[in-house]
Amino acid sequence: MLKKPLIIIAPLAAAATVLTSPAQAADLTISCGAVGAELELCEQGVATWEDATGHKVDIVSTPNSSTERLSLYQQILSANSSDIDIMQIDVVWPGLLASHLLDLRTVLGDDAADGHFDAIIENNTVSGKLVAMPWFTDAGVLYYRKDLLKKYDHRPPETWEQLTEIAGEIQIAEREAGNEDMWGFVFQGRAYEGLTTNALEWVASHGGGTIVDDDGKVTINNQEAVTALDLAATWVGDITPEGALNYTEEEARGIFQSGNAVFMRNWPYAWSLAQSEDSAVRDKVGVVKLPHGDGGESAATLGGWNLAVSKYSENPELAAELVAFLTSTTEQKRRAIEGSYNPTLEALYEDEEVLEAVPFFGALYDTFTNAVARPSAVTGEAYGRVSNAFFNATHSVLSGDMKAEDALSQLQGQLRRFERRW
Ligand code: GLC
Repeated sequence: MLKKPLIIIAPLAAAATVLTSPAQAADLTISCGAVGAELELCEQGVATWEDATGHKVDIVSTPNSSTERLSLYQQILSANSSDIDIMQIDVVWPGLLASHLLDLRTVLGDDAADGHFDAIIENNTVSGKLVAMPWFTDAGVLYYRKDLLKKYDHRPPETWEQLTEIAGEIQIAEREAGNEDMWGFVFQGRAYEGLTTNALEWVASHGGGTIVDDDGKVTINNQEAVTALDLAATWVGDITPEGALNYTEEEARGIFQSGNAVFMRNWPYAWSLAQSEDSAVRDKVGVVKLPHGDGGESAATLGGWNLAVSKYSENPELAAELVAFLTSTTEQKRRAIEGSYNPTLEALYEDEEVLEAVPFFGALYDTFTNAVARPSAVTGEAYGRVSNAFFNATHSVLSGDMKAEDALSQLQGQLRRFERRW
């Protein structure tokens, strides 16, 4: 692990200032994540580039929550600040941040994004400008305890009802057998972007759509969505700890990786950590596609992160070069093998070393390429508000404050009022 000076910016610090020592003035500053091994892998990649080029780069660590990262970046960018040259941006942000970002093709050339999945390139292209290079893609998957399912003679669930039953049965039996901390199912239930991704999977896999459809019509107030959220609400306090109402990815992983959950919904990054030497569940974990509702089909929310260069950077060309290096085949392959971060380069899904390190990259290839997008492209600059309204409504259902029927009809009205913005 590299020992580099880390500058941590408090989540809501106004137009955060990056402090660099004059003696070692950096040529560039990059912010590149915090969840799981994200930061460490970024540090290693940056160090390789520094060695090769002789440039010096400062790394800014950001909050784990995508929602908090967004408000931090929005503050920095709306102040036209040059503090951060390169930002790791979520797949749902190009529409929100495009006006502050460099068109990378102007520096890296027209073929800059060749070999990357078309859908991500399209997502990152706003008004004809490539505002971010794909770095890794993501899709929700179901982690399960192979050993426990075998012990209780179950196959991985195909429907949410089956998951609910199996989780409940094993939780009770394991508690009786002495593990009082055992839970059935953990996921991301905090009121933040992660809950939007989880709840979209519940709703879409019941046939309840994607909150706002491709034509911009608000569709969330439907019976399938109500059924999906009502079912999820029954989990909390039963197979899911109440604490999950405040879990992000890492809290859920903490419970699962210490051996205290039968099932976990998470992103692929959790695989390499669950398989690490100090993991209590090493070699006991399976990964399958998420369950579906009656009459629906499994749906994985499309996630992922990209690297963008700020328009206010004083060194945009150099910044774009570092972006090109970090998103290259060499780096994506290393990150896939060491951290199970999904490449955005199609060819790496046929690379034997990658598939050996993360077998489900092959087995679940269709899940990754058919993942369900959040309605960020169609809602553009309003996406942040749409997602906030959706995760807050969902959170109020999970916490028992509102019935799904009422929360979704209220949400529909709220979203309709934003409709004229897209
Ligand atoms: C993951 C996804 C990202 C999503 C976030 C929500 O980091 O890659 O797209 O917004 O989770 O927590």
